[in-house]
Amino acid sequence: MSEHLTVVNHPLVQHKLSLMRDKETSTAVFRQLLREISHLLAYEVTRGLPMTTRAIETPLKVMDAPVLDGRKLALVSILRAGNGLLDGMLDLIPSARVGFVGLYRDEETLKPVQYYCKLPGELSDRLVIAVDPMLATGNSSVAAIDLIKEKGATDIRFLCLLAAPEGVARMKEAHPDVPIVTASLDEKLNELGYIVPGLGDAGDRMFGTK
Ligand code: URA
Repeated sequence: MSEHLTVVNHPLVQHKLSLMRDKETSTAVFRQLLREISHLLAYEVTRGLPMTTRAIETPLKVMDAPVLDGRKLALVSILRAGNGLLDGMLDLIPSARVGFVGLYRDEETLKPVQYYCKLPGELSDRLVIAVDPMLATGNSSVAAIDLIKEKGATDIRFLCLLAAPEGVARMKEAHPDVPIVTASLDEKLNELGYIVPGLGDAGDRMFGTK
């Protein structure tokens, strides 16, 4: 991936995103839409994925058929909202290794606080796709990528649903080598660090918490 930021401006993605933004959309429908949209975003973020071949027999002949090398891929969910994108990614790439980084945002400083980190081994051999629906200030995304790099990863992509210009700039400054794929580049952050127009708190909307 050469571009630092790719906005997936596809009609299905934009339609589903509009439904997710609507505050009247229920938790169950929100979660379902996130799963569906993650399939569509996965198409973009998985370009050039590591492949291998497997000997198979078609009705006509034996061939070495190209298949995904899921062992060479790691998905890393930034908890907790990342799990919504992770589920959809795993629908498509069930053999990928999976890691989790737990960060919460201190509501006063807006700085990330780490409470959990469990990553697959041999990250230096893998393409790592980190997932978090909201790239807001960029603080937690940058901290998560820092951790992933500390474990040896050098080939990393970042998948989100919405990005704020501030978060994109922060990521570009800290991790210019990490391409970002998103469904929308929104207007701005508000004074509380929420993306505007956004969709609210992605974790709360996914899990029905408040
Ligand atoms: N996290 C969210 O869930 N929503 C925002 O708008 C910003 C950060």
